[in-house]
Amino acid sequence: MAVGSLSDAPKDLLKEIKHLEELFTIDTAKLKEITHHFVDELAKGLSVEGGSIPMNPTWVMSRPTGHETGNYLALDMGGTNLRVCQVTLTEQKSEFDIIQSKYRLPEELKTGVAEELWEYIADCLQQFIETHHGDVTKMDKFPLGFTFSYPATQNYIDEGILQRWTKGFDIAGVEGRNVVPMFEAALKQRGVPIKLTALINDTTGTLIASAYTDPKMMIGCIFGTGCNAAYIEDCGSIPKLAHLNLPPETPMAINCEWGAFDNEGKVLPRTPYDIAIDKDSPRPGQQAFEKMIAGLYLGEIFRLVMVDMHHNPEAHIFAGQDISKLRKPYSLDSSFLSAIEEDTLEDLSETLDLFETKLNISPNRAELGLIRRTAELIGTRAARLSACGVAAISIKKGYKSCHVGADGSVFNKYPHFKARGAQALREILDWPEKTNPKEEDPIEILAAEDGSGVGAALIAALTLQRVKDGNMHGILHPENFK
Ligand code: BGC
Repeated sequence: MAVGSLSDAPKDLLKEIKHLEELFTIDTAKLKEITHHFVDELAKGLSVEGGSIPMNPTWVMSRPTGHETGNYLALDMGGTNLRVCQVTLTEQKSEFDIIQSKYRLPEELKTGVAEELWEYIADCLQQFIETHHGDVTKMDKFPLGFTFSYPATQNYIDEGILQRWTKGFDIAGVEGRNVVPMFEAALKQRGVPIKLTALINDTTGTLIASAYTDPKMMIGCIFGTGCNAAYIEDCGSIPKLAHLNLPPETPMAINCEWGAFDNEGKVLPRTPYDIAIDKDSPRPGQQAFEKMIAGLYLGEIFRLVMVDMHHNPEAHIFAGQDISKLRKPYSLDSSFLSAIEEDTLEDLSETLDLFETKLNISPNRAELGLIRRTAELIGTRAARLSACGVAAISIKKGYKSCHVGADGSVFNKYPHFKARGAQALREILDWPEKTNPKEEDPIEILAAEDGSGVGAALIAALTLQRVKDGNMHGILHPENFK
């Protein structure tokens, strides 16, 4: 019998499972419809009028050659951790050395006061420099790439006007403002003489870091706490930059911010659980696509299904049990779903253990089957939807064959995410079945190089080189580039 087989489940439960399957399954036709709309929305985001997807020009205007060299600092403010790195791009082509420290981003900072966030970041940077170099005053020659992974308008590579917080952040007084001076003020206060060279998004970093070692890399994606992608457009296809009169063939990396795809609710088959998540989030109506895919939300979608199935008179799972732990919002993260999907035991006893230890609930045999199926449905839907974004960029750019660099906890750790995404891409793009399982797909999504460390350093290097070559487009503070 298959793992978690449902053949002996009571009729009512089977009916509920069937209903969940209908809600969460996205068939090929729907995948194609979503992708089709996605292609239009990518173009709309580049237009003067704009659309839901921000399509932010990043002022990253070339691909790395592999011959970039030098010492750089990289600071990564992700959704979960803060990481400081010193990156050395060595003389050897496409090689690098990295020293790094990770600091936990305290939960309370994410919804706290802006000054405290910048102070904390500056403290971590100062601590890193003191540990590795002793004297902070000798550091002013290290260019810094700051990976700030939120939607930001960049009229210049050394500015970032926060469009809106995502990934559950909600810090007053930052949206609509340039974050660079706030960050630099905190550094100045501590006497840390570092100058920011480039503010970057994690997806752009992922794309550039991966392109450093693989010339076939055309798209950088993050499937982690949040979800997004970047690719390289030509300026002639970016009407909203037309006023700058850049030569049409000039390359410009675009941070899509595709998490905002279909905020207006035209094609995504949102379930009542998705709608509930959105309603109770700090930014209702925003990041519709991200809220169905990203690691921050997968566990929460699952939790909402479980609570609903408990109250649903037909299913009535966990009857007579205390589900108070399960009622706590965001108490299950995506690693909980990963663990359920990784249970290879026929009786799902690992899942039973997980429920008992974490939630104080003892599901019966049939309920375990429903739990397993729900995890599969949520994980599969996320992977299949993410393929629509990759397919849309590939169609827009006419890429028939390329590599896509992907990073993030969901991509790297969630079971079957890669295979399910690849299968969906095959369906959307009508590739014939493989004759040899070892054969590469025409568009292959691969594990990326470290975008917010090496990628940030490379982007700082490319920017300095560009200034040296006299291309001053998108530079706000030329004095910092001397
Ligand atoms: C942010 C993006 C980021 C993505 C992955 C989203 O919530 O808006 O800027 O690239 O998460 O970290």
